[in-house]
Order: sequence, then structure tokens, then C-alpha cells
Amino acid sequence: MKDTLNHWDEVYRNKDHSKLSWHQDTSTISLRWILEYAKNNDPIIDVGSGVSVLVDNLIDSGYKNISLLEISPIAIKATKDRLGKLSSGVDFINENVLDLNQNKTYKVWHDRAVFHFLTNKKEQHKYLDIINMHIAIGGYFILSTFSNEGPKECSGLDIVQYDKDKITDMLAKNYKLIRNIKESHPHPNGGVQNFNYFCLQKER
Ligand SMILES: C[S@@+](CC[C@H](N)C(=O)[O-])C[C@H]1O[C@@H](n2cnc3c(N)ncnc32)[C@H](O)[C@@H]1O
Repeated sequence: MKDTLNHWDEVYRNKDHSKLSWHQDTSTISLRWILEYAKNNDPIIDVGSGVSVLVDNLIDSGYKNISLLEISPIAIKATKDRLGKLSSGVDFINENVLDLNQNKTYKVWHDRAVFHFLTNKKEQHKYLDIINMHIAIGGYFILSTFSNEGPKECSGLDIVQYDKDKITDMLAKNYKLIRNIKESHPHPNGGVQNFNYFCLQKER
């Protein structure tokens, strides 16, 4: 776990944040789906938020109950600095998602390019237990990973690519897949990376 923290702290300490492969100037599908599925006061958590502008976009859209969970304190500080005064309205959780144990459920759990780093079954199951504890019945799990046409690594780490069948198999017990769309994400340094977005609704 310490390695995970060190890896990400180094990334955010040493690299130009706007040139990170996953960087977006503005959030795309994640934002569109959250706008559709959550009301302004619904609790929303962005897991592995990094320095994503999803939070800025949500605040601009009127959302008031946003939590950001991120392992790297450097990414959290950068996000707080960018948000300025607006950061006081955001709940920052500086933690490994695999250690999350809050007495709270969320209407939307958003994960863009975090779950796909969990390459072993034990960690994947742990993550799924954690989302089960923290997503309200009827709430949504919005997940974005690399697709089968996407890269096999992200930030120099191995990842797992997902498609509709794999996600459905993993989550069928408690979730219904309601949407799935691929996106060719423009890499800030040229080329594209193929992402797969899934929206699942928690049924039980
Ligand atoms: C590829 S980046 C994606 C960042 C952001 N979701 C986005 O779309 O811009 C992955 C992020 O997840 C964070 N992360 C990786 N493993 C994590 C873990 N186990 N717990 C919490 N955050 C983690 C990293 O620090 C990094 O900010």
C-alpha cells in the first residue's frame, strides 16, 4: 500500500498535471451521467479524484454534497489550491479506497481509471465489498476503465481492461448495467486512449 502512495505522490510531484495521459480539460461522460442521475443535494463521491476537474464542473452545475477520495496528499493539495474558497464545501478524504469504512452511503460512486489498477482478485473483491457498503440502494456506480482496445498500462502500472460482459459478470449479484459507452480520449501528448464507461444501478 505504501508503494501505491509513493507512486502517485511522485507522479503528482514531478509531472505537469495537464500532460498526464488521463487529463481532461473538462469532464465528459462522467459529468453528463451524473447530471442525469443525481440531484444537486445528493451525496456524490469521486474515488481516486486525482486533480480531475469533475469536482469544478459539478460545483458549477450546482452540486453541493461532493466527496473526493484520493490516496495522494499532493493531488489533494493541488485540487484544494485550484478550487480556492470553493474547497471548503467539499469533503476531502485522503485515504486508500481499499481502507474506506464510512458510515455513509452515496447516490453516485464515480471511478475514472482507478478500479482498473486492481489486478488481483483479492483487491478487486475488497473494492466491490467497499462499494456495496457505500452505495445507496437505487444509487449508481459510474465506472470508467480502459477498454479492450485501450492500453494495457496506465501511469507505468499494469491495468485490467474491461468490457460489458466482464463488468456484468463481476457485478450481476447486486447491480444492473444500465449504460455502456466507449470514448476515445485524446492523450494530451497526441494519440488517443480507448476508455469504456459503465453506469450500473444498485438493486440490492
Ligand atoms: C489515472 S488517475 C485518474 C484520476 C482521475 N480519476 C481522473 O480521471 O482524472 C488514478 C488516480 O487514482 C488514485 N489512486 C490510485 N490508487 C488508489 C487507491 N488505492 N486509493 C485511492 N486513490 C487511488 C491516484 O492517486 C490517481 O490520482
